Amino acid sequence: MKGKFITVEGIEGVGKTTNIAFLHKLISGTGKEVVLTREPGGTPLGEAIRGLLLDPQYTGMNADCELQLMFAARAEHLDKVVWPAMEAGHWVLCDRFTDATYAYQGGGRGIDVERIARLEQWVQRDFRPDLTLLLDVPVEIGLERAGNRGALDRFEQEEVAFFERVRQAYLEMARTHDGRYRVIDASQPLEAVQWQLAEELQPELKA
Ligand SMILES: Nc1ncnc2c1ncn2[C@@H]1O[C@H](COP(=O)(O)OP(=O)(O)O)[C@@H](O)[C@H]1O
Ligand SMILES: [Mg+2]
Repeated sequence: MKGKFITVEGIEGVGKTTNIAFLHKLISGTGKEVVLTREPGGTPLGEAIRGLLLDPQYTGMNADCELQLMFAARAEHLDKVVWPAMEAGHWVLCDRFTDATYAYQGGGRGIDVERIARLEQWVQRDFRPDLTLLLDVPVEIGLERAGNRGALDRFEQEEVAFFERVRQAYLEMARTHDGRYRVIDASQPLEAVQWQLAEELQPELKA
């Protein structure tokens, strides 16, 4: 049986990490082999690159440098983790992927979408997620939840207007893309969010 590549997206604090653990249990409960991973990161080298990307020491990092570090980590991740798992027929659940690059480096930093698309094609060729679960909450709620986690990383230190642009870029992709997006209202209590996620996953689990 062929595996699926499912990505979970959204701004800080929407509940990606919390809910991806739930999705992992849900999918593996049906007997499927599931690989749980994240971006930037997912490999030893990718996690080192993540460290550079999140370190507040590099506040003001050049936007193209940031963009290329994202894709550098992604190339390693696809080669070492995602593609081998897919070839073995496993499902892969990924906490953020290229849509985050469009949202943060495109929407947030203002990099031209065409330039991001060229890197996407270069690094991924035609590989795209089968399903993208976009967890959506108003920015204030997301930042408040994220703030409760402790010290803020380089992205979390951005201003509210930055996250507004990121959120709108995500919502715009969900509106205009090819139907692989499901937008989940993640402002609700966790159980309600998980109920929605389970609903969205049902058809995929049967397919
Ligand atoms: N639906 C929810 N309602 C209230 N709090 C939530 C909800 N989902 C997640 N949280 C809490 O918000 C915080 C951020 O969640 P997390 O999963 O780390 O978000 P993300 O990975 O998207 O940044 C955590 O403390 C988590 O327990
Ligand atoms: Mg997280």
